[in-house]
Amino acid sequence: MAQQEEVFKKLVSHCKEYGFVFPSSEIYDGLGAVYDYGQNGVELKNNIKKYWWDSMTLLNDNVVGIDSAIFMHPTIWKASGHVDAFNDPLIDNKDSKKRYRADVLIEEQLAKYDDKIDKEVEKAAKKFGNTFDEQKFRETNPRVLENEAKKAELHTRFATALNDNNLEELRQIIVDYEIVCPISGTRNWTEVRQFNLMFATEMGSTADGALKIYLRPETAQGIFVNFLNVQKSGRMKIPFGIAQIGKAFRNEIVARQFIFRMREFEQMEMQFFVRPGEELQWFEKWKQTRIQWHKALGLGDKKYRFHDHDKLAHYANAATDIEFEMPFGFKEVEGIHSRTDFDLSSHEKFSGKKIQYFDPELNKSYTPYVIETSIGVDRMFLSVLAASYCEEELEGGDTRVVLKLPPALAPVKLAILPLVKKDGLPEKALEIMNNLKFEFHCQYDEKDSIGKRYRRQDAIGTPYCITIDHDSLTDNQVTIRHRDTMQQERVPIADLETIVREKVNMKNLLKIKN
Ligand code: GAP
Repeated sequence: MAQQEEVFKKLVSHCKEYGFVFPSSEIYDGLGAVYDYGQNGVELKNNIKKYWWDSMTLLNDNVVGIDSAIFMHPTIWKASGHVDAFNDPLIDNKDSKKRYRADVLIEEQLAKYDDKIDKEVEKAAKKFGNTFDEQKFRETNPRVLENEAKKAELHTRFATALNDNNLEELRQIIVDYEIVCPISGTRNWTEVRQFNLMFATEMGSTADGALKIYLRPETAQGIFVNFLNVQKSGRMKIPFGIAQIGKAFRNEIVARQFIFRMREFEQMEMQFFVRPGEELQWFEKWKQTRIQWHKALGLGDKKYRFHDHDKLAHYANAATDIEFEMPFGFKEVEGIHSRTDFDLSSHEKFSGKKIQYFDPELNKSYTPYVIETSIGVDRMFLSVLAASYCEEELEGGDTRVVLKLPPALAPVKLAILPLVKKDGLPEKALEIMNNLKFEFHCQYDEKDSIGKRYRRQDAIGTPYCITIDHDSLTDNQVTIRHRDTMQQERVPIADLETIVREKVNMKNLLKIKN
């Protein structure tokens, strides 16, 4: 784990050094848990969003997109339950004065049992080599079983406390398991209190009677309140979905781990409206569709797992998270929820407007049920970067840092490098770039040795570099270098467009069915 933390620190500084992510307002010493995306970060982020958007709206003829406002009528957040219940249980350490989420402290304690078990398995695997039967070991080893039992016991207590909204019990668990503050190392805890995560502001001047409004904590409500608009104007028939990408804001208590938990972040959400009674089969379908979407990136199937919820929200009848193995453990990247008819019914009640669908096949009206898929762009960004970041030892003792990004997501697709800055090579290079730049994000670079230029492109994950040399002027060929293998080959300039397209086209990802 310590090694993983080291890698994570390097990743964070890599993001800054190579223009992916900067701390916000840095010259004023930053702003907690708010980040800016730099010149390469914004390209990667846009590519992730395009991959999601196209997979929703191009591949499904019954899913359409919208872009609703961040400011919404305040009653929407009453109806959705956010005003009364969008809380996190917080606890303070009286010595360090640091604030924590009580549930996160307990989850970290649970993860410690997994770490202990993994260490036992690792040790045994080393000892027994090829003859090692991991499954049998996990089922029979006394230390593994003891840790499994302790984990299960804590898990049950924790789930019950959450379900009962029992803040005293959450505190008692922290006390009983002797959980200490990572800063002060003490167990001097306050009570556990609820803390609402919405940012509030005012619309209009105070003299006019300003309206207290909220920065939206999720994009989903913008979809629900537009259900009828989209259904009617698009003559949509159930089942159908509405997708949206946009900013969301949460006053997170514990804002840590870089862009994993931010106060301003972006979500990609899709609400899929179905007939009541058919929701669980659609839930299963979307679970499979979404995990395939993730796995198609080729970052490693073992890095994903489902985590079914212990505590179902009162309006949900099924819920799961897709977790990704970050450098700090498996963490939620996406949530998939079967939300019943809660949201539409609640908006009907609070707005006084009828929000129903007339189903011509059933010849009756009903409130549709909803399956939601909700993924954080920034968490997705972090997972892609973490899985792509590699430090490699090269022949001759040299090293390189390379981002093995899925080519379709790479910020720059092709680097165009004249071998020298004279003899007409820059002109030839620019001629090639001017032909290709309409389709691919190209970067021209003539500074420093060719080796240094390759390293710069590896560090931002550029799948291809081409070098223009003196022979290129006469034979109209260039040397193309592949990022991951570093292999080079001579190819006709006329073939470049096809070669690059074959590798970087988003279609390649969208067509993959696992
Ligand atoms: N509409 C449902 C909803 O908002 P959520 O589980 O609270 O559900 C969905 O959020 C996704 O949004 C999460 O899986 C995560 O990827 C992302 N997300 C939530 N809070 C975040 C934060 N503070 N910073 C970054 N991403 C966040």
